[in-house]
Amino acid sequence: MNLNSDIKLENFQVKFITRGQEVKALRNTDLIIKKNKVTGIIGETGCGKSVLALGILGLLPKYAIVDGNIYYDSLNLKKINKKERAKYLGNIFGYIPQNPGESLNPIRKIKQQIKESLRLIYNQKNDIYNKSRELIGMFGFEDVERVLNSYPFQLSGGMQQRVLAAICIASDPDWIIADEPTKGLDKKVQKDTIKVFNKIRDQGIESMLIITHDITLVKDFCDELIVPRL
Ligand SMILES: Nc1ncnc2c1ncn2[C@@H]1O[C@H](COP(=O)(O)OP(=O)(O)OP(=O)(O)O)[C@@H](O)[C@H]1O
Ligand SMILES: [Mg+2]
Repeated sequence: MNLNSDIKLENFQVKFITRGQEVKALRNTDLIIKKNKVTGIIGETGCGKSVLALGILGLLPKYAIVDGNIYYDSLNLKKINKKERAKYLGNIFGYIPQNPGESLNPIRKIKQQIKESLRLIYNQKNDIYNKSRELIGMFGFEDVERVLNSYPFQLSGGMQQRVLAAICIASDPDWIIADEPTKGLDKKVQKDTIKVFNKIRDQGIESMLIITHDITLVKDFCDELIVPRL
């Protein structure tokens, strides 16, 4: 696919009706998130950071009231259908969600989960086998076989995150979107996370959107900063 475009939000807003009350989850937002840059989003709890990411990815719940547009090259991401979206999700966006443990499938081994992403690009079994090993090895695991043959619950939070990063880049997306990648991790693993992102960048994925409360991550890694309004 590789359109490699900026992400342009035009008057994008999200509301929820909760117990009969309207909650403005994200106020009308006009924003250009530049390609080939690492953009950090920092802001208070509840200001709509995760909703913004989910909106771009088309993963908001059905009951969300969404207005405005999101452009990616000539695509209007707000308007594309479910089937097209499934195609674009892996090809355009790699998503590292707020809770890595919850987004890995608990009943499938890591090797099966990584294979699914690799199948988007590789046809040959052998290529998929080799690439899985290469990707897991790249994220600092020594015992690659053991990781590939593990279920998610057999890995620590930090390990799950590295696995998820490997799965995320397996489909060679244009963008990485990460929600609070260092949240709940101890200082050492937080530092390792920055290494993980540097690795991703070394692989040629240079466009990233990183939601965080972590000032060190912003200072050390981001080129641009967005602070959404409450
Ligand atoms: N599925 C939902 N249903 C109802 N309200 C929601 C839903 N998701 C988010 N909200 C509301 O939308 C607002 C923005 O939520 P969001 O999760 O984007 O905040 P955030 O900036 O990511 O916060 P945090 O820093 O705590 O992760 C909040 O008021 C939240 O309660
Ligand atoms: Mg959030």
